[in-house]
Amino acid sequence: MAEPIHVGIVGAGFAARFHLHNLRLVHGVPVEITGVTSRSPESRAAFAREHSVGAFDSFEALCEASDVVDLCSPPSTHEQLAVEALGRGKHVIVEKPFTGYFGTGTDDFRGNTSAKEPMLRHTIESCRRMEEAARASGKTICYAENWIYAPAIQKEREIVTKSGGQILWMMGNQSHSGSHSPYYGQWRFSGGGSLVGKGCHPLSAALVLKRAEGSARDGKAIRPATVSARTHAITKLCGFRDEGFLRTAYQDIEDYGQMHITFADGTVADIFASELVLGGVSNWLEVMANNHRTRCQLNPIDALETFTPSQDAFRDVYLTEKIETKLGWSHAAPDEAWQHGYPQEFQDFMESLTSGREPLANAELARDTMATIYAAYVSAERGGAEVEIP
Ligand SMILES: NC(=O)c1ccc[n+]([C@@H]2O[C@H](COP(=O)([O-])OP(=O)(O)OC[C@H]3O[C@@H](n4cnc5c(N)ncnc54)[C@H](O)[C@@H]3O)[C@@H](O)[C@H]2O)c1
Repeated sequence: MAEPIHVGIVGAGFAARFHLHNLRLVHGVPVEITGVTSRSPESRAAFAREHSVGAFDSFEALCEASDVVDLCSPPSTHEQLAVEALGRGKHVIVEKPFTGYFGTGTDDFRGNTSAKEPMLRHTIESCRRMEEAARASGKTICYAENWIYAPAIQKEREIVTKSGGQILWMMGNQSHSGSHSPYYGQWRFSGGGSLVGKGCHPLSAALVLKRAEGSARDGKAIRPATVSARTHAITKLCGFRDEGFLRTAYQDIEDYGQMHITFADGTVADIFASELVLGGVSNWLEVMANNHRTRCQLNPIDALETFTPSQDAFRDVYLTEKIETKLGWSHAAPDEAWQHGYPQEFQDFMESLTSGREPLANAELARDTMATIYAAYVSAERGGAEVEIP
């Protein structure tokens, strides 16, 4: 029996919960969860009790006990913690967004009104610092972008690779009625709004598919070249009429964003992300190729439709992410984690770390994603002008 790989989790919130659950589903590689640390002693103790893992009162102690440090803390913490863990000789798993720009450390920093070019430069440097720390320690960065592991995206990757198709245009979306993490909505913790918090998912999937197309054709990934973008704060409009269904308590971020990306071969992708969509999470990517067209539906899907006229019948039944009501017909998710690619993601991470190969979601994908999004913020600041992606 191989030695288990020890994983320590940083953060005790929403992401920590599903990371732990999916790490426990990994097969063929023995995985042991060493424990959790988080900012608040109460939350880490409660998490540790609920999941029967250890609670560590410092990041250093968690690192000491782990082979892999899994960052499920707010985006503003990712670079510092990843560099520190890598420096201590640990592999890291870094949640999305990989990194970003989080201001000057003062409470009065407002991301929406701050200059975006320095943010882009800082973000690229931040990615490089993390990659350099990995190179120096000989350890691996796993970028926790689950969308690229979703079965619908993986099937399209196979179709593109085996059919030799050329992707001409992609259109993708992640939206729902608003993120509930208290850190989201404040640029100094989240590094931006809908574009960076949600748009990262369909964007990474689009980047992976164009990579796959180029790699299958001549061994060269097709990279993103330019972006034009718009962002808006719709729930902040004087005329916005709040019916109470959408989250509105954002400080200095956009709640709607769109990016028009051109790739090095001149083909395009349009990515939408918002906090304005009712009816549960809306996750999809459509691919228009020269020899096929594919609709990758991540959520909702039609595998299970269920109806209730009762306010109470489904009280204890989980149906699907961010659904506002269970009344009437619902597109319930029979296995949401699988649809979203979570078990496949952690399987790939654990296999890659024990075999020494790169994970599919690696630091390079993270850097392309971050560069595209922060170039999009520069474009939005210029009213949608085309900006080169560094
Ligand atoms: N891939 C996905 O589908 C997905 C979904 C949700 C969140 N996320 C990402 O996961 C990360 C966490 O988001 P969340 O929704 O779990 O947030 P959350 O607010 O639910 O939890 C954040 C946790 O981090 C802890 N924390 C804060 N600062 C810390 C620090 N300096 N050191 C250690 N712990 C600290 C908090 O105490 C809390 O336990 C974010 O990067 C977010 O974008 C990814």
